[in-house]
Amino acid sequence: MKILITGGAGFIGSHLAEYFNEQNYEVFILDNLKTGYHSNVGFIDNAHLIDNDVTNSQFVTELIKKEQFDYVIHLAAVVSVVETIKNPILSQSVNIEATLNMLESNRQYNKNLKKFIFASSAAVYGNTEGLPKKVNTFIDPESPYAIEKYAAEQYTKLYNKLFNMPTTSLRFFNIYGPRQDPSSPYSGVLSIMNEKFQNDDTFTFFGDGEQTRDFVYVKDLVQAVSIVLNNENANGKIYNLGSGEQISLLQIFNTFEKLYNKTINYKFSDSRSGDIKHSYAQIEELTSLGYKPKYSVEDGLAAYVNYTNHS
Ligand SMILES: NC(=O)c1ccc[n+]([C@@H]2O[C@H](COP(=O)([O-])OP(=O)(O)OC[C@H]3O[C@@H](n4cnc5c(N)ncnc54)[C@H](O)[C@@H]3O)[C@@H](O)[C@H]2O)c1
Repeated sequence: MKILITGGAGFIGSHLAEYFNEQNYEVFILDNLKTGYHSNVGFIDNAHLIDNDVTNSQFVTELIKKEQFDYVIHLAAVVSVVETIKNPILSQSVNIEATLNMLESNRQYNKNLKKFIFASSAAVYGNTEGLPKKVNTFIDPESPYAIEKYAAEQYTKLYNKLFNMPTTSLRFFNIYGPRQDPSSPYSGVLSIMNEKFQNDDTFTFFGDGEQTRDFVYVKDLVQAVSIVLNNENANGKIYNLGSGEQISLLQIFNTFEKLYNKTINYKFSDSRSGDIKHSYAQIEELTSLGYKPKYSVEDGLAAYVNYTNHS
């Protein structure tokens, strides 16, 4: 079985590539290595790691025509909210147009396709009232990033409705784990906090630290993707990919203190504009397919800390 993972050299993609490689799928990665690294996927040979851009539509179409992938997981994106605010025209060409081209190329030239999965985001909910966040409730995008994710997931859904393509979108909540790059100030907050603990640096809470998120250990994401990939009932659907648990940043900080058996300095600064106060996912639709998060935040953080201190 051939599987194409766009953005496969990045944080999440590398875990999916690892899993499907172990399951003996023939894994192809299409990645321009902008925020991803070859070293994340050392187990993929050069013939299967295609260093190219998803906006290169002719190239992508030819690749799909030639390889006739059984599965496509489309993760490649401008992932920084700030970058999409600075350059919305460029970011929509990656986050919307390239997704549409990927769908259209598969529709026209790949009759072998068994599933197309698109990585959407909890960002689409913005600051809407009401918890937990449900897929069929109001959305309120607060950034070009959120609008782009929404547009692309809706195209993905529409290709099922119009052309019966086997497509599913997943709205990822806050994913964390090994290989998440803490170098950007807008990277996942847990990777930043972890790095501060490693280096005995000061951690800054934007706001009072009481803000909550739904944190998902990346191995639980892999479980969810693999379930959706193999379930035809998921076609034409959009799911929240969360843990269903609401955890505050202060709770996370306390868990790191226990795991490292020490504390570090911290300070509070103004919350960032557009930052959401509380968020967690309703995940019943996904659990009804068999998804069951295995990692509590304590377990996930322990595995993460263990990895970062032994690699
Ligand atoms: N990490 C999270 O918590 C989270 C939450 C919601 C949604 N997502 C989505 O999940 C996906 C993966 O995110 P991640 O956290 O692994 O980020 P990441 O930056 O580690 O991975 C993105 C990958 O896409 C590649 N890429 C970027 N632009 C490209 C282009 N034009 N052509 C080809 N490759 C390109 C990058 O080089 C990188 O390897 C993204 O679509 C992101 O929006 C992530």
